[in-house]
Amino acid sequence: MSTILQKAREYEQKYRVYITPEERPGYHLTPQVGWMNDPNGFSFYGGEYHLFYQYHPYSTEWGPMHWGHAVSTDLLRWKYLPAAIAPDTEIDQVGCFSGSAIELPDGRQLLMYTGVRQGRNEDGTRRDQQTQCLAVGNGLNYVKYTANPVLDDKDLPEGFTTADFRDPKLWREEDGSYACVVGARTEDGSGAILLFTSPDGFQWKYENILDRSYNEYGRMWECPDFFPLDGKQLLITSPQDMSPLGLEFHNGNNTMALIGSYDRNTHRFEREQVQAIDYGLEFYAPQTMLTPDGRRVMIGWLQNWDTCSAQPPNAKWFGQTSTPRELSLKDGRLIQVPVREIEALHGRRVAYQDVTVQEEVSLKGVYGRMVDMTVTLRPADVDGFQQFTIKVAKGSQHYTNITFFPKASVLRVNRAHSGLARDIIHERDCLVRQQNGEIRLRILLDRFSLEIFVNGGEQAMSTAIYTPQTADGISFEADRSVIMSVEKFDIIAE
Ligand code: FRU
Repeated sequence: MSTILQKAREYEQKYRVYITPEERPGYHLTPQVGWMNDPNGFSFYGGEYHLFYQYHPYSTEWGPMHWGHAVSTDLLRWKYLPAAIAPDTEIDQVGCFSGSAIELPDGRQLLMYTGVRQGRNEDGTRRDQQTQCLAVGNGLNYVKYTANPVLDDKDLPEGFTTADFRDPKLWREEDGSYACVVGARTEDGSGAILLFTSPDGFQWKYENILDRSYNEYGRMWECPDFFPLDGKQLLITSPQDMSPLGLEFHNGNNTMALIGSYDRNTHRFEREQVQAIDYGLEFYAPQTMLTPDGRRVMIGWLQNWDTCSAQPPNAKWFGQTSTPRELSLKDGRLIQVPVREIEALHGRRVAYQDVTVQEEVSLKGVYGRMVDMTVTLRPADVDGFQQFTIKVAKGSQHYTNITFFPKASVLRVNRAHSGLARDIIHERDCLVRQQNGEIRLRILLDRFSLEIFVNGGEQAMSTAIYTPQTADGISFEADRSVIMSVEKFDIIAE
């Protein structure tokens, strides 16, 4: 083991004990110590789910990237393993950037990641180079492939460079061969997703450009994933530097699903639809895996690059993953619901059927910071209400608002009063659908996050909140009578 990896392993071992379980989310993964960004290597191996992550153990800021590592049997409660890889070779000395994992036929686990090394432009200014690298291991310890990098300058088509060439996502085809998608940037400065194939996971060959931005959907396209879903093919990616489009794509860096069809023989992807993946303040760099029972599950970084300065004082960790979401397509649109494993964590149930709400009320038994709650609303009379608000993580000084405006059919999340003393944007709107005047919101709260799934997963809104845990109230109010049903489960994660 290199001294750089050994140092990281000793460091996390020594300092993780200073973070108590209550200082972490109950069912979302945080870095063992320090900083986390993208989820990496989300996969099933050796009877467990593996999740790696972009990791800088030594501070709660981004730094030379390692891969942190955790395993789980239910996708929700994670056990830490030692850091998997570190920036310890010439080819990845700047960092081991995002990538993916797969099991080889001989039982070894293959990691594919972006190695970043220092480089220079002709005029002497710094220009790091990004190439694709491999490491092979047993689910605990990994050895970097001696022939790294496996994809370099020479493998790129005309107009592409290794200045932006990252985040390989690999998979195994039914015929036993391999393929991967990698984010890249074209000569027009905007993103593209490249497809490569391999007979064995080690020798890679460029095939073609699956899709590209033409500066329409942001600049560099990061963290691609490519998979079949319910008869269609999905290309998901996280574009940087996007301009908002209506209520979509407001976070600067965003996530997007390109839904289309794919011809495996010609490697051609035909884009038909474009959909934003999440409408909250924090969600980025999602990656998917196929579970042994055939579900396509996606997990993201519950964070946004532009809000990383909004850390609570004396943070001991920063960055967390989203709740893993089962994906499906309905009427050509992507649907996301929390993985069904969450039901096994359900504790006490409290339910109310058809209560009339107007003045702010709290309902007996409806409170908590680790909660899976479904709220259904409809107007009590023909004139209808203009505005309905749920406050969560509510204490004497704090709350986070979820407000529904039926006339505009907009759902708004606002965490201005959640306890973050930073002058940043705290609000996002999302266009939702009413079904016969009804709307259904599934609200997942964990100690440091809020995720909302609208109408069975037609939209998702994810937001980080750092409100003190004593603020565990939930209340409901409207400007006119609303008929509301609530079903709330506590989540028992320990
Ligand atoms: C996305 C990203 C990736 C890169 C990684 C570096 O959040 O910028 O493109 O591999 O983070 O940590």
